[in-house]
Amino acid sequence: MDENILRKIIQNYETPTYIFDISILKERIEYLRTALPEKVKFCYAIKANPFLVKELEEVVDRFEVCSPGEYQICRKRKIDIKKILISGVYKTPELIMDMVKDDEIENFTIESMQQFQLLKYINRKLKVLIRITSGNQFGINSEEAEEIIKNRSQYENLDIIGIQYFSGTQKKSIKNLEKELTYVQELINKFKNEYDFETRELEFGPGFPVSYFQNEEFDEEIFFKEFSELINQMEFKGQIILEFGRSMVASCGSYITKVVDKKVNKGQNYAILDGGIHQLVYYGQSMAMKIPMCEIYPKRENVNEKWNLCGSLCTINDILVKQFPAGNLQIGDILIFKNTGAYCMTEGIALFLSRDLPSVLKIKENGEIELLRDNLPTYKFNY
Ligand SMILES: Cc1ncc(COP(=O)(O)O)c(C=O)c1O
Repeated sequence: MDENILRKIIQNYETPTYIFDISILKERIEYLRTALPEKVKFCYAIKANPFLVKELEEVVDRFEVCSPGEYQICRKRKIDIKKILISGVYKTPELIMDMVKDDEIENFTIESMQQFQLLKYINRKLKVLIRITSGNQFGINSEEAEEIIKNRSQYENLDIIGIQYFSGTQKKSIKNLEKELTYVQELINKFKNEYDFETRELEFGPGFPVSYFQNEEFDEEIFFKEFSELINQMEFKGQIILEFGRSMVASCGSYITKVVDKKVNKGQNYAILDGGIHQLVYYGQSMAMKIPMCEIYPKRENVNEKWNLCGSLCTINDILVKQFPAGNLQIGDILIFKNTGAYCMTEGIALFLSRDLPSVLKIKENGEIELLRDNLPTYKFNY
């Protein structure tokens, strides 16, 4: 992060805080557009970072919205209804009715047979994607999808435009992605050959990975090249929409937290931070053993001394990093955890210990800092 901006943030806002840098976000999307085939469209799964929806509206083609709360966020941020696809488990009939009234939302996935029952009785035209399960609680079996497709003439209000398939997250194996694309292609062929059903759209969640820890070796350029070849070689020539979460937004985020106390207990250095594991969750960070991408401010030349970076929850588990090479760490020093723009800020146990929720800042493209959310007391939820 630019040092002047960081200094301004530290002077004007309390730590801990989440920071999202919009220039980095826009550059990342430009990179993704060039690294992936031109013909694919982009869908953003807003669960990855709901704070960024408005910034992304112009640069993505679709938003995947999975909960009543996410739907409300889109409404508050006045997101174009046509860009919203309602997906994910558990929607009440009342919620679906609310979404479709006044000809609002028109794009849905068929996530379960129960949801299909709800959608087929809606008294207006809907565009639907059948979500095929990848072997978990999401989507439906291919046999159930076949039944729906076979009988599609009975569901006059449903325009079945294609299928959705979500592979998983942090998927580093091109071989596995290839297997899944082959599986999807076989289904598309079967629907065509046996039921004369033309799949017009394939929405595919590849779960592109993000490197969070030091010494993780992953060549993203080669990975995207190989993935693009798979897409280009597909027999399916309809519209492909790729779903993105972490790979799109992780890099624009930083979480800053301050050293508020320090001690040496039985020969081990412990720094107590004003943040902690309730506010920062890294995928794959087991027992704080891996070292995330993190910088110290002010910068250190000599980082020989190692510190256990502990948060301010009264639990022995609240360790963000063990044996972090930090040099002579001082009270008041700032730690900047990077690549925290996806999930890190929402997946934590935020209510534990009733500590405040951190503020959220945005760095605009012109370098201005905007407060998106002030820090919020959580004790109110806990009595
Ligand atoms: C259906 C769907 N698509 C896309 C995503 C985003 O995944 P990722 O963050 O790995 O890109 C998710 C995440 O859970 C999802 O459930």
